[in-house]
Amino acid sequence: MKQTIAAPPVIRLGTDYIGKPVSRVEGLAKVTGAAKYAAEFNVPDLLYGYVVSSPIAKGKITKIHADEVLALPGVLQVFSHENVPSLAWFDRSYKDDLAPGGSPFRPLHAAEILFSQQPVALVVAETFELARYAASLLRVEYAAEAHETDIEKKRDDGYEPGRGKTGFMPPPKPRGNPNEAYKNAAHQHEAEYIHLAQHNNPLENFATTVEWLGEGKKLNIFDKTQGAMNVQQYLTKIFGLSKEEARVISKFTGGAFGAGLRPQYQVFLAVLAALALERSVRVSLTRQQMFSLGHRPHTLQYLKLGANENGGLEAVHHAALAETSQFEDFTEVVVNWSGLLYQCENVKLDYQLTKIDANSPIDMRAPGAATGSFALESAMDELAYKAGVDPLDFRLLNYAERDQNMKKEFSSKKLRECYHQGAARFGWEKRNPTPRSMRDGNWLIGYGMATGCWDATQQKAAAKASLTAAGHLMVSSASNDIGTGTYTIMTQIAAQTLGLPLEAVTFRLGDTELPEAPVQGGSWTAASVGTAVQAACQALGNKLLKLAQQLADSPLQGAAFEDVQFVDGVIRLNEDISRRVVIADLLDASGEEKVEAEATTGPNMLKQQPYSMHSHNAVFVEVRVDEDLGTVHVTRVVNAVAAGRILNPKTARSQVLGSVVWGIGMALMEESIMDHGFGRYMNHNLAEYHIPVMADIDTIDVVLVEEEDDIVNPLGVKGIGEIGFLGVAAAVANAVFHATGKRVRDLPVSLDKLL
Ligand code: MOS
Repeated sequence: MKQTIAAPPVIRLGTDYIGKPVSRVEGLAKVTGAAKYAAEFNVPDLLYGYVVSSPIAKGKITKIHADEVLALPGVLQVFSHENVPSLAWFDRSYKDDLAPGGSPFRPLHAAEILFSQQPVALVVAETFELARYAASLLRVEYAAEAHETDIEKKRDDGYEPGRGKTGFMPPPKPRGNPNEAYKNAAHQHEAEYIHLAQHNNPLENFATTVEWLGEGKKLNIFDKTQGAMNVQQYLTKIFGLSKEEARVISKFTGGAFGAGLRPQYQVFLAVLAALALERSVRVSLTRQQMFSLGHRPHTLQYLKLGANENGGLEAVHHAALAETSQFEDFTEVVVNWSGLLYQCENVKLDYQLTKIDANSPIDMRAPGAATGSFALESAMDELAYKAGVDPLDFRLLNYAERDQNMKKEFSSKKLRECYHQGAARFGWEKRNPTPRSMRDGNWLIGYGMATGCWDATQQKAAAKASLTAAGHLMVSSASNDIGTGTYTIMTQIAAQTLGLPLEAVTFRLGDTELPEAPVQGGSWTAASVGTAVQAACQALGNKLLKLAQQLADSPLQGAAFEDVQFVDGVIRLNEDISRRVVIADLLDASGEEKVEAEATTGPNMLKQQPYSMHSHNAVFVEVRVDEDLGTVHVTRVVNAVAAGRILNPKTARSQVLGSVVWGIGMALMEESIMDHGFGRYMNHNLAEYHIPVMADIDTIDVVLVEEEDDIVNPLGVKGIGEIGFLGVAAAVANAVFHATGKRVRDLPVSLDKLL
């Protein structure tokens, strides 16, 4: 080995990246179009599949006139239940990672129609236009049966679901005596809060391009998903493929918001067609078909709150009834938050499902909490008025110091700081408490606020780190980046752990050939994959230290991993930073081409068991309501979030900004309107399903509240993809009440409800 001499002084800017507002490392690829989405892989000899969807909500297919369209030159096949072979998946016990209880929908399996817009056939042709044209000609005959899609008619059919998918916690048992406490309460509030179904509607439509590689059944499957591994597991199980045969690739995802947590039917159809025709096939869904992939469930929520003379919360009863499909028990945590957010000794929480003839709902950003907090935080506002207490003071008065649901301490909770910092930034003290008391000409001005809470969880994940002799670090994990900033924060973690400049680090994700990672969802990616990336880089660092210690007269002789630091491209002693080895020289000296290490990490159960781990936020909103027209403008939002360590304030802020836009959409616009005659969502397009546009968005101020937490994970990060969305809709509705004196309890707060 070569002798290493003391390194010259380092003049780099530093490699301290965690917590810095680093710009997106994939930004250039995104804005130049180099970042390809699933439907953009133009592999040679591609065929196109177009989905034919059911116009009825319930019944049977009686005849498919496939011959008529097969006669068109260029149409290769019409796949339907009539010709799809009985696949391995007809093992009904199969479940994807995020599947709820029940039996997953199996496209083209049988003649039965279970929901409107159910895929009934796939027409495959040489061009997309021909496939679409042929699909439009395909005659399918049905025997319709009476359907029921109205949850209001199924109010009495509620039942309690069992534990289903990952993350579902049935409500805790009642505590205290909520009925008695409510009866005796000085101030009482009781009301029902309603929201219709909502659809995730990411900008990128769901699509899959399957590349037939011509080597046995080997496929490259470019899929729109939040979890390549989950899709691979589904495909291998159903089609009897090996992992080598079914490589799933998802490098860039144009939003998903939960719709991509589970494998969607287009991936099934595309793989089915590719295997049957032994050709490359693409299936992309239309915006209309996107409304058949699952939705936030239409839910009825009943809230009963009681407070004593001083405004102390004495009783909480929160019950929710949500729709699910006939074949799965889709569950969310809707009501539990109401036993967690405030100190209260008498609490009853109920959660029930009722079945309708629609597709299974699916998780949609902050599932359950978004809607549960709308109801709770609206009700808290109503009770605050009754008790004559300022809504912010009312929340501070009833602040929960511990998690009464779980009977545990919080690992950290800086919600009080969120309230104070958010209120100060907003100017809450300028609020005149009387509704309809603030105006500017024809505009009624209202201030409203609300609170949110989300889980801080960590899943098992693996990562690999590989450092080349040229000094480039490649880190990989089969995670995903749905636009949240995963590429960037993982690059930061890796660069800082090994003391390398950002430019020397590449992070790869979205490929089943990489180390296993969970779906990107639940705000757990930073905690889960981040911890694995850090651990893999530390393991690599350990190997480098060992190599450094093999050098003759190594300045690091005898040092343990804890005794050294990786900074600015060198390994140096904590105690004496002049004793150092340059990493690049080290690889050179060792003669190794590269040094690699892998790590698999998961939650430290023992350490975490005594604690309840959550992120929190406080949202303050100003609205202006046109007194004559009832139009609502959200003119100012301050969103103060405490989510543990913020890895990157720039990408974190973007997550909260997007969340606020979502909250404004939920409050004022979003609703999927079911025509119960047809049993179909009628506004299934972005012209009629309204979401905010730039003109709807004004000032949004994000406050990232400092919060340290060494319980949640080694990085101290809680995740920020969902927390910023919570409380926004309630804060808007509360501000509208303050502006107008009108309380709207069924979302969205549209102008017709204000006039
Ligand atoms: Mo999120 S609804 O877990 O993608």
